[in-house]
Amino acid sequence: MERKKVTVAELQQKKEAGRKITMMTAYDYPSARLVDEAGIDTVLVGDSLGMVVLGYDSTVPVTMDEMIHHCKAVYRGVRSSFIIGDMPFLSYQVSMDRAVENAGRFIKEARCDAVKLEGGSEMAPVVQAIVRAGIPVCGHIGLTPQTATMLSGFKVQGKDAGGARKLLAAAKDLEEAGAFMLVMECIPDLLGARITRDIKIPTIGIGAGKECDGQVLVYHDLVGLFDRFTPKFAKQYVKLTPLIRDALILYRKEVEEGSFPGPEHTFSMKQEEAEKI
Ligand code: KIV
Repeated sequence: MERKKVTVAELQQKKEAGRKITMMTAYDYPSARLVDEAGIDTVLVGDSLGMVVLGYDSTVPVTMDEMIHHCKAVYRGVRSSFIIGDMPFLSYQVSMDRAVENAGRFIKEARCDAVKLEGGSEMAPVVQAIVRAGIPVCGHIGLTPQTATMLSGFKVQGKDAGGARKLLAAAKDLEEAGAFMLVMECIPDLLGARITRDIKIPTIGIGAGKECDGQVLVYHDLVGLFDRFTPKFAKQYVKLTPLIRDALILYRKEVEEGSFPGPEHTFSMKQEEAEKI
């Protein structure tokens, strides 16, 4: 039976019923198809594509045009999953108008269902403005890679009571501003559980413990296609890199020694036709 399109209401109902929500990143048509066909609730076209697909050393250089390009490809691969486009650095911080305009591009041009943006309480007015324009917004607190320099690097956030209180307040402010969902990255499990209990909207954890309403991982981490570094929270379900590398080496050898293409990969014509050429 064909799965119906996932909606904001369905994600909310899952939280209320205590059923886990699944989220996975995807950046192109083939990965989007696989994620959708696996029955995953939400596809995040994360700005992590800057590192795992475009080869930047962080997510900071990613542009709006790059995000839109990849979101369009993901849209073509998805039938049912709920698609969230990740707003890149400086696409929502400069002014409220720019934030709403850029969020609108994800919906109008790239056909995403919602946008995600990073930041705590200071981002509540931006979330409110985008929601007021009719665009669902997912928040993202804890370790926020776009501003990792301000956080003094890629570290677990909210480990002491003061930091944890600030993140709990941020979660409540973003909920009040109208966010429909909240990603929480790299925070202690007890804090992940506390925020999940204290807010009504679904929480999606990445390194935030198992009590979150759902989980997200980066596609390339899960399938073992990114080996520059592996964060503690990432589980590699399959290691594709060595399989692909071996296949490429075998292909090169077969071409060099003349065993590829074989007869099964070759088109034939009648000898008498060939003689007339
Ligand atoms: O960009 C991304 O993929 C993300 C996830 C890690 C949540 O923001």
